[in-house]
Amino acid sequence: MRYLYSFFSVLLFCSFSAFAQDATIGKQKYQDCVSCHSIKPGENLLGPSLFGIYGRQAGVAAGYRYSNALKNSGITWNEDSLNRYVANPQGLIPGGRMPYSGMPDANDRKALIAYLITLK
Ligand code: HEC
Repeated sequence: MRYLYSFFSVLLFCSFSAFAQDATIGKQKYQDCVSCHSIKPGENLLGPSLFGIYGRQAGVAAGYRYSNALKNSGITWNEDSLNRYVANPQGLIPGGRMPYSGMPDANDRKALIAYLITLK
């Protein structure tokens, strides 16, 4: 039984540190976004603040004027939708206004999203 516990703690530790490592790399990937997106609540630049973005509905940052396409998209920002949007913003939301051509590498996007999840 004791062995089983240590096995699970090692497993837990590993998955936690993998996530932490992803988030650290993701913070570097966020350099792609930082010119348009603040991570401070309520601070909108050319793009809306990304504070608390994970789990939120699209188009609801207070005081930001979104495109109709994004506002009416009905999207909730989770791993899947963020992954698709960051890969190809116009692909997920045609007529949206985010002037970003996309992050092609799936591992980069995964790390970036791990970082976005910490913004709360
Ligand atoms: C050149 C400026 C620019 C860059 C770079 C940029 N964005 Fe955006 N982003 C915008 C704009 C403008 C919008 C609003 C789009 C609309 O209204 O259709 C937006 C919207 C978003 C939204 C939707 C927010 C919400 O409240 O629904 C997310 C998520 C997002 N961007 C993530 C990112 C990420 C992650 C990156 C970096 C990989 C990034 N953006 C890079 C300008 C930018």
